[in-house]
Amino acid sequence: VHEESLRPKTLEDYIGQQKVKEKIKIFIEAAKKRKEPLDHVLLYGPPGLGKTTLANIIANEMGVDIKVTSGPAIERAGDLVAILTNIGENNILFIDEIHRLNRTIEEVLYPAMEDKKVDIVIGKGPSAKTIRLTLPPFTLIGATTRAGLLSSPLRDRFGIIERLDYYTVEELSQIVMRSASILKCDIEKEACIEIAKRSRGTPRVANRLLRRLRDYAMVKHTGSITYEVAKSGLEMFEVDEYGLDLVDRNILEAIVYKFGGGPVGLSTIAAAIGEDEGTIEDIYEPYLIQEGFLVKTARGRVATQKAINHIAKIKFNVKESGD
Ligand code: ADE
Repeated sequence: VHEESLRPKTLEDYIGQQKVKEKIKIFIEAAKKRKEPLDHVLLYGPPGLGKTTLANIIANEMGVDIKVTSGPAIERAGDLVAILTNIGENNILFIDEIHRLNRTIEEVLYPAMEDKKVDIVIGKGPSAKTIRLTLPPFTLIGATTRAGLLSSPLRDRFGIIERLDYYTVEELSQIVMRSASILKCDIEKEACIEIAKRSRGTPRVANRLLRRLRDYAMVKHTGSITYEVAKSGLEMFEVDEYGLDLVDRNILEAIVYKFGGGPVGLSTIAAAIGEDEGTIEDIYEPYLIQEGFLVKTARGRVATQKAINHIAKIKFNVKESGD
């Protein structure tokens, strides 16, 4: 069973994001009643919260086909024109990482989204001609981790803009329970809660930990993920009680011990721990900030007292265990 099949196919099966779900359900029902495509949708928020899953669910609930692509995959304006002219009536075009479309390609989207028009330039120089094509009605769903990076003309053309937020422990625990049942994996409720607590608010992380604990339980134990098995497995995988992994802890440790707690710039942190700046900013920082380990100031990143205590505790424990 792969990632795909853990993904819910209907809004009914999609756990969490309650408010977003309620609104989308209404917009889908209204569009269907009018026999129109759904208005263009922008989904934003941290990675792994289910933006792609939601796009697929919207297609399923609307009863239309979805074509999936991403900002970086569309290299030339012509690529986008080819995609747009091949979208069937009322179908969905999903562009992941839409903030990574370059500006000249973005400009193809404006008239396409607004008036269902695309301009094709034929030939070069003074004899070049522009032909204007009319597209069938369609829905664009864009997903991004950084809504702030979208140009405002692009953002303004989405009629539905929804932010996905980190999941609660209760919601993640339900997701783990559901995934375990699809994977036919025996798991205790307490183990689901423990995985949920350490999944940084993110279903993708929760499902990954579940799969790895399933491996661990099969090889080291009887195959069942009990609370004890979950605890010892998570310790072996170096996922701590806050769900922080080695990279998270390296970031905090660098700020605390190398840079006196901050403020320190992102590029300095990146160089100190050998991680990519964009990865730190998009994947690691949002959760560290949300959980109060890190604050962003005008002069750089600052570690909070919570971070200092946590890192000190880990160092202390390491010493205590004899290393
Ligand atoms: N798997 C991943 N995300 C999910 C969600 N939001 N609900 C149910 N299962 C999921």
